[in-house]
Amino acid sequence: MTTPKPTTNNAGVPVPSDEHSLTAGAQGPILLHDHYLIEKMAQFNRERVPERVVHAKGSGAFGTFEVTGDISQYTRAAVFQPGATTEVLARFSTVAGEQGSPDTWRDPRGFALKFYTTEGNWDMVGNNTPVFFVRDPLKFQDFIRSQKRMPDSGLRDNNMQWDFWTLSPESAHQVTWLMGDRGIPKSFRHMDGFGSHTYQFIAADGTKSWVKFHFKTDQGIEYLTQDKADELAGTSPDHHRQDLFGAIRNGDFPSWTVKVQIMPYDDAEGYRFNPFDLTKVWSQKDYPLIEVGRMTLNRNPENFHAQIEQSSFEPSNLVPGIGASPDKMLLGRIFSYADAHRYRIGTNYAQLPVNRAKAEINSYSKEGAMNIHYNSADTPVYAPNSYGGPAADSNRYGDDGAWDFEPRFVRTGYVQHPEDGDFVQAGQLVREVMDDDARDRLVDNIVGHALNGVTEPVLLRVFEYWRNVDPEIGKKVEEGVRAGQGETAPTTGAGAVDDPADEAARV
Ligand code: HEM
Repeated sequence: MTTPKPTTNNAGVPVPSDEHSLTAGAQGPILLHDHYLIEKMAQFNRERVPERVVHAKGSGAFGTFEVTGDISQYTRAAVFQPGATTEVLARFSTVAGEQGSPDTWRDPRGFALKFYTTEGNWDMVGNNTPVFFVRDPLKFQDFIRSQKRMPDSGLRDNNMQWDFWTLSPESAHQVTWLMGDRGIPKSFRHMDGFGSHTYQFIAADGTKSWVKFHFKTDQGIEYLTQDKADELAGTSPDHHRQDLFGAIRNGDFPSWTVKVQIMPYDDAEGYRFNPFDLTKVWSQKDYPLIEVGRMTLNRNPENFHAQIEQSSFEPSNLVPGIGASPDKMLLGRIFSYADAHRYRIGTNYAQLPVNRAKAEINSYSKEGAMNIHYNSADTPVYAPNSYGGPAADSNRYGDDGAWDFEPRFVRTGYVQHPEDGDFVQAGQLVREVMDDDARDRLVDNIVGHALNGVTEPVLLRVFEYWRNVDPEIGKKVEEGVRAGQGETAPTTGAGAVDDPADEAARV
């Protein structure tokens, strides 16, 4: 057996004992100058950073993104140029649960990616669904609170959830996804990912188009029934974390085929759905999927805290060739995440190895808590300067992804397009994508959820909400709830589905 290395304190000084604190005699008081004991206790008290306010429970891994299709006519982004291979960090998560919550709660799953590109980090912070519950960032905080816990009991409350949803009909499309099979993926490996928002592509010649990102799981879509998920919540609360870590450790590397939908810039105004409304998908008949690459996860973290817990994803990390769009949710998020990281991790969160760009950083940011990277002493600390400090190249980076808009302050919501409507695509999802069995499971899941604490008048609105999505589903939900009041909720069937995610292929 090799001799172990001597334990040291944080300053590298060898410590006298791993087991005994310094006391005045065997029964005497502990001495304050036992600095190593004090250091251990103090460090322990500071081991946690605040958990993420949403998406607190998650797992992650590293990997690569390889370009397999040529979309260089649409974007000059280095990450999409033919032949490029880029290192990636992925973090998957549930949304409402806390750090210790079960992986198998019904919830959307976060699908956050950091691409360490040669022109800086590109973060695509998406979900396993192509749409979202609300379309204005002013409602996000209320939505999340309705999913979290009651102020007095600290309990989650389905009545609160349905109250918010039924008063926010724009949620119908996402709630239909959530209550369907996609609401509980079998594992993080068995789900798709979506950029969800519309982004902008900017080509080398300045031509602009709109783009949606899709990550199609190569493992196939599989889901858990409500019963199975409930069982695993008790017996294996870290089920998805174990699955991802175990698969990668065993060399069974999960991968996703990356595809884009491209909309010519000028199509947006006349499109049948508002293309910037996050509660809508774009029809794949109108804008077919174009394959661009493959993402493979092949390296587990060596340290969960340093590399996953402290990882900081931000939709504001956009690279040359990829820009924002008029999607208000995206624009709100572009502010929100860096602000969250400054609070949760600290001012210099971007300097941590997991967050630090692999591209050269020539920033004028300086100092602040835990600052470890700095420019050379002869680099000026201000711009402009006459002494060779970094200078922005506005010719190279163009117009910041500008778009046209009507210059007037308003609070009117989105421009209505011909087929917009809060229940239109939710109804199509139910009628054209789900089969009879999937529709039955949808009804069972809604009835089970509603029977668990939803009361009048919210319950009446639940029936109306589902009648608006689809009259038949609404009728069955009402019948199921009325029949089940006072009884236990019905159970669901079992099995895996093919990939009907391509809901958009059918609308
Ligand atoms: C995490 C805000 C909408 C996906 C977070 C965090 C905040 C936040 C503050 C915690 C960040 C941290 O502490 O590291 C918001 C706001 C939104 C919004 C203000 C709307 C205005 C969305 C949408 C999606 C999304 C629409 C997906 C399409 C995620 C994911 C994470 C996250 C995946 C976890 C990232 C990680 O793994 O670290 N969000 N969010 N969010 N959000 Fe959002």
